Amino acid sequence: MKIMLLGSGGREHALAWKLTQSQQCETLYIAPGNAGTALCGTNVPIADNDVEAIKDFLINNKIDMLVVGPEQPLVEGLADIIQTCEATKHVVVIGPNEKGAQLEGSKDFAKQFMRKYQIPTAQYATFTKQQYDDAVAFMQTLQAPYVLKADGLAAGKGVIISPNLQKAKEDLHAMFFDNKFGNATDKVLIEEFLAGIEMSVFVLTDGSSYVVLPSAKDYKRIGEGDTGLNTGGMGSVSPVPFADDYFMQKVEQRIIRPTIAGLQKENIDYCGFIFFGLMNVQGNPYVIEYNVRMGDPETESVMPRLKNDLVDLFVLCGQKRLHEAKVQIDERFVATIMLVSGGYPEKYEKGKEITGFENVKDSIIFHAGTKNADNNTIVTNGGRVLTITSYGKNIEEALAISNRNAQKVVFDKVYFRRDIGKDLMK
Ligand code: AMP
Ligand code: GLY
Repeated sequence: MKIMLLGSGGREHALAWKLTQSQQCETLYIAPGNAGTALCGTNVPIADNDVEAIKDFLINNKIDMLVVGPEQPLVEGLADIIQTCEATKHVVVIGPNEKGAQLEGSKDFAKQFMRKYQIPTAQYATFTKQQYDDAVAFMQTLQAPYVLKADGLAAGKGVIISPNLQKAKEDLHAMFFDNKFGNATDKVLIEEFLAGIEMSVFVLTDGSSYVVLPSAKDYKRIGEGDTGLNTGGMGSVSPVPFADDYFMQKVEQRIIRPTIAGLQKENIDYCGFIFFGLMNVQGNPYVIEYNVRMGDPETESVMPRLKNDLVDLFVLCGQKRLHEAKVQIDERFVATIMLVSGGYPEKYEKGKEITGFENVKDSIIFHAGTKNADNNTIVTNGGRVLTITSYGKNIEEALAISNRNAQKVVFDKVYFRRDIGKDLMK
């Protein structure tokens, strides 16, 4: 089978690593990929949202399956275009159509969907610019802190948590009138603040059946002890100790099943991943957000624990036979630590030579922002540079191995958090 994978992050390297382990994967192309995906297949210089170039590539290279890593092309309707074009409609697309991708592309859509299908989530209301005064009146009915969210995609930067009413009013004003998020702020959601511990649950669904993948927790803040600015993610662990069978039963009954039943009722033909960003509020799961793709850096901890052949699962998904699949999960823990460029998530430099790969023993390295330079070296090419991912018989062991190896890969101004997973240790 000829497979094309879109994206260029650590998530895509982990997916590429897993796809190439399949007997069914004859050829793998990654667009645009990074220096790590180049070890698994052939990188092609096509942007992951360049629809015309992707379509031409699918036709010219007789691709059978297209796996979409990031959300943006899905929100922009890539799957619909591939599936309605005579020359590409046979291609299995792993990723929902534009309508399904609204679960991530519009927070207002997602909240209305959850309300309609009684899926537990924070109370909220949505306001336009013209309704600024109504929005402030609504905030006055809530308790601090205040959660303000831009409706559209904002590259993970669309959420502000304001500590008090005065600050919330100022932040809301800035979101509407200072164009802080571009078009994203035509609408703003104001939400009840949920206090709890976050975690990520992933399913693969064919629109009626689903399989639950290993759970994970990611660490979003740049600083140790969960302090400082939000990032794309500084590390992850899988499984999540508090997500035991009892908790996961609640997640399936209250969240996963109603979500899939809701998609069917809305006539949304969904083939792909759903990522449930959950808050565990005193033992009860609430949905913070839906994403229509895998998480990053969760994928780097999830894929190593999935024992199934991923291509087999994708084929069953495309044929709407996912009910025949049984997921098998490695019992071991996996811990992932992200090495980032100094300065990230603010200004940072690129093009720094990375050395020491050969000194890493007993960990997997997944590349994120890396590229091959002309002189046969690998250099940094983004804020999040690469992950060190390790197995262990418990979380302590997995983290100890990742921490040890994280110190062996070196580039100018490298930074990583040394406390990933510590909150989950007994
Ligand atoms: P989102 O982009 O919706 O995932 O939100 C970004 C982050 O803001 C989440 O990962 C949470 O840490 C936090 N957050 C979002 N909504 C809420 C909420 N209703 N209550 C508490 N924290 C929230
Ligand atoms: N790790 C969170 C995300 O991928 O959005």
